[in-house]
Amino acid sequence: MVKATRKSAVGEAHSKLILMGEHAVVYDHPAIAIPFDTLTVETRVRPTIGKVRFASNFYTGELEDMPEKMYGLAKCIYAVCAKLNQPLEHFYIELNSLIPIGRGLGSSAAIAVSLVRGLYNFFGADLNHEVLMELVDLAEKYAHGTPSGIDREATSQDYPIFFRRNELTEQVKIARPLHIVVADTGRIGDTHASVSSVKDRYETNYSETKARLARIGSLTVQARQAMETGELIELGEQLDQAHVELKALGVSDPGLDHYVEASKAAGALGAKLTGGGRGGCMFALSDSFEQARLIENALKDAGASQTWYCQIVDEVMSYEG
Ligand code: MEV
Repeated sequence: MVKATRKSAVGEAHSKLILMGEHAVVYDHPAIAIPFDTLTVETRVRPTIGKVRFASNFYTGELEDMPEKMYGLAKCIYAVCAKLNQPLEHFYIELNSLIPIGRGLGSSAAIAVSLVRGLYNFFGADLNHEVLMELVDLAEKYAHGTPSGIDREATSQDYPIFFRRNELTEQVKIARPLHIVVADTGRIGDTHASVSSVKDRYETNYSETKARLARIGSLTVQARQAMETGELIELGEQLDQAHVELKALGVSDPGLDHYVEASKAAGALGAKLTGGGRGGCMFALSDSFEQARLIENALKDAGASQTWYCQIVDEVMSYEG
């Protein structure tokens, strides 16, 4: 009889918020993202006897019967076992995610990060950042087609990052706390589709699209400087301008625009969509906790399905709203 000898193990990851640079980052411009650790995901791997089983809100059953939309995760599991020379049997994976899917909060990347971490812990193997990124990319490519890589980086790092494709990711220092309110439209935004729509625009309306993406890139560089010097009024203006560019690229929608306007009317220094857009989430910047609470109430009154407040210092402190 086969005996289960290993101990259960856990892998964790958190959601992320892109402050500036989404979409432009796919075209090699920089972007800034922060860890958003109010929303987390945990993968527990337990020993069992027999075939690999999987349990989650999305699917429960044997690994070999996983639905097509989850093939990316299956690929990660196969790749981890192959890399660590472990048999693909005798374990059970339970995935618990608090991150709403399709809201631009990095749910798919965070799930893959926690899964790979959980499996490495289960097999008692050391996992370096490079290998983690390589394995998570298998799932991300499946989910998003041509991901820039910012989601996997931001959901696995514990500090705000300045990210540019194929370059070393840097930490962004924060001179003054940023008070951020995130609002969820409650509608799923399809990142794959919105990235493809920008690609179509890039092909059919090349000069204008290229210029808008470059403008977002230069706003991102300015935003980093504003964060590092504590110039929050300037940062707010840069966020507003980035939203205008994203809207012109066709990735906002009336719901997101409505929340941007509502938060500005409630005193936000700046506001924009975050992530892929076309549904999903937006956020507003404030320079005080009190103002942030007023903005949060305004967003709830405007119909946001959920809101969260987080304060960003060099580490992120988050509270549920
Ligand atoms: C998605 O969180 C961010 C996008 O820029 C896509 C990507 O970077 O892969 C829209």
